[in-house]
Amino acid sequence: MRIHIKVLAMKKEKVVVSIGGSVLIPGKDDPAYIRALAGMIEEVSRTVQVAVVCGGGRIARYYTETGAELGGTTHQLDMLGIGATRLNAQLLAVSLGKISSTDIPLTAADAAERSTPDNVVVMGGTVPGHTTDAVATMVAKEMHADRVVNATSVAAVFSDDPRKDPAAKRFSNMTIDELGKIVYKEHGAGKSSVFDPLGVRIAKEERIDILIVDGRNIDELRNAILGKRIEGTFVNSH
Ligand code: UTP
Repeated sequence: MRIHIKVLAMKKEKVVVSIGGSVLIPGKDDPAYIRALAGMIEEVSRTVQVAVVCGGGRIARYYTETGAELGGTTHQLDMLGIGATRLNAQLLAVSLGKISSTDIPLTAADAAERSTPDNVVVMGGTVPGHTTDAVATMVAKEMHADRVVNATSVAAVFSDDPRKDPAAKRFSNMTIDELGKIVYKEHGAGKSSVFDPLGVRIAKEERIDILIVDGRNIDELRNAILGKRIEGTFVNSH
């Protein structure tokens, strides 16, 4: 009897990281944080295929607020915001060196095409009308990614703002429908939500899990990217 030994090539999991601008460039210790982040991304990219979408943070806010005072249209203000997210992406790509490129993709499809097991795609926004969280889920859809990690400035998802309501529930695990209820409520109130509602919709449709973690905590972010246990919130879309 012939014995067939199948050698299965180790296939890397694919992960898209959405990193908030307020995490990337808060204006304090930015080079030290970005250097540590890039080092961690380089390390995990040996195990998983990574794409990173950067938010605009205070740079975007400066441009959109100044643009608004100058009478800019919503479309123009979004374009200013997108410009800032792309600048931030270039900054991270500079720090990543040869495993990435400062010639950043401008669309989710382009990002997915250029993402390889050995290359870390870094990008910002795409078109007006949504945020970079939504872009991350679009890239994840195109790449058939295993999960989206939201590196944000809150440690987890809460049922309400914990500063206003001390009784707010902190979620370790939740379903995508539960997250949907929270972001639609937040969005309705005109606040910036923990995740873009459009991103929640895409993640639900595509069955992509979302991990929401404190992005300034490099160890926590590493665990999320690698699919390990986290302190933050695991959002199940399956
Ligand atoms: P961000 O993704 O940083 O938005 O994009 P945000 O969630 O408001 O910012 P953080 O997470 O609190 O830092 C900045 C702005 O750029 C425009 C939007 O106006 C957005 O608010 N943008 C970004 C787009 O119009 N399209 C994109 O694809 C990305």
